[in-house]
Amino acid sequence: MFMTSLPARRRTRLLDATAAGIVEAAAILRAGGLVAFPTETVYGLGAHALDPHAVRAIFEAKQRPADDPLIVHVGEMALVDEVAFFPGRLARQLAEHFWPGPLTLVLPKRPRVPAEVTAGLDTVAVRIPAHPIARALLAEVGLPLAAPSANLFGRPSPTLAEHVLHDLRDRIDAVVDGGRATVGVESTIVDVSGPGPRLLRPGGLAAEDIEALLGQRLRPPAENAGGPPPSPGLMPTHYSPRTPLVLVIGEPLVAQSRLRTEVEAALAAGQTVGVLLLEDDVDAFPCGVVRETVGAWSDPAASAARLFEALRSLDAANLDLLFARDLADASIGLGRALADRLRRAARRIVDSHADNLRRLVDTRD
Ligand code: TXA
Ligand code: MG
Repeated sequence: MFMTSLPARRRTRLLDATAAGIVEAAAILRAGGLVAFPTETVYGLGAHALDPHAVRAIFEAKQRPADDPLIVHVGEMALVDEVAFFPGRLARQLAEHFWPGPLTLVLPKRPRVPAEVTAGLDTVAVRIPAHPIARALLAEVGLPLAAPSANLFGRPSPTLAEHVLHDLRDRIDAVVDGGRATVGVESTIVDVSGPGPRLLRPGGLAAEDIEALLGQRLRPPAENAGGPPPSPGLMPTHYSPRTPLVLVIGEPLVAQSRLRTEVEAALAAGQTVGVLLLEDDVDAFPCGVVRETVGAWSDPAASAARLFEALRSLDAANLDLLFARDLADASIGLGRALADRLRRAARRIVDSHADNLRRLVDTRD
């Protein structure tokens, strides 16, 4: 039924985010092709969500395992009902309040959504993005679009069209260039298909904002009782640069000092070193390290906007080791998303908590 006229080998076209570019992108998608487009969180790799052949091509292009389900993007509430049900008042309330925006809801799916999209689950993840170009494309195409982040599987998500080209050139049909994705980390995923809402992935929308609207705490993801994981894509390693990243966690000042010690030790051992640097730390580092500065500790939104771009730049420098510390309070707001992505990106985590204890003992001596 869904025959595609597009060849298996693709040449990637860079489309401008003009009316003509959007029309072209929509035509490719309708024909079963793959088009990357900007959203407010990260770039997505879109395909006609009801065309199993087109959806399978996403997995091939990204080299993504087939058991990692996709998010379906729609342009308006009326289209949500084509792919999913709102199981109750609470789910609809979240959608009405936070869409369009960086929130994905896991909902019971309609039978017409192909198993390829949901990895065989009876739920489907849905979101209405807020980015004007994503909205223009969704309006023009008039279809639900399955769209994971437009990176090779396991790599940092793309926040610029050039990141998409770096990973997927000639594996997809087109990318619409919409400049920088402003939020910079992926959407917050909330599963509202079961009895109590669960936070499956911290992201661009603060969990506290969702809890304030609901008047209840979000539950953690369900324990995996032998069956498939509740959010199969949430594997411990993800978003990783190829260069090993060492992440220092702990109280800000203690972590800052431990980060410096770790960097100095690596330099002394003759290694080439890159640091993902908070604005707070710019004066605290020796020369001879490659730096990518994100935001300040007090401004997690600025760090989120730069995180993946900075990781990609550091990776491109072909160094021996990368270092970072937590970029904000890991327990609240966007800091939770930053902490989650850094932990998944890290090859090794250094807990500086013990340094603090040691220091307390030292001062007592
Ligand atoms: O901001 C975003 O969410 C971006 C933009 C493009 O919208 N998309 C994105 O997609 O991050 P992706 O594929 O990288 O992550 C989607 C994740 C999956 O890995 C999985 O963890 C979860 O969404 N997911 C999808 N469908 C699900 C389902 N039915 N049940 C539970 N988790 C699901
Ligand atoms: Mg992804």
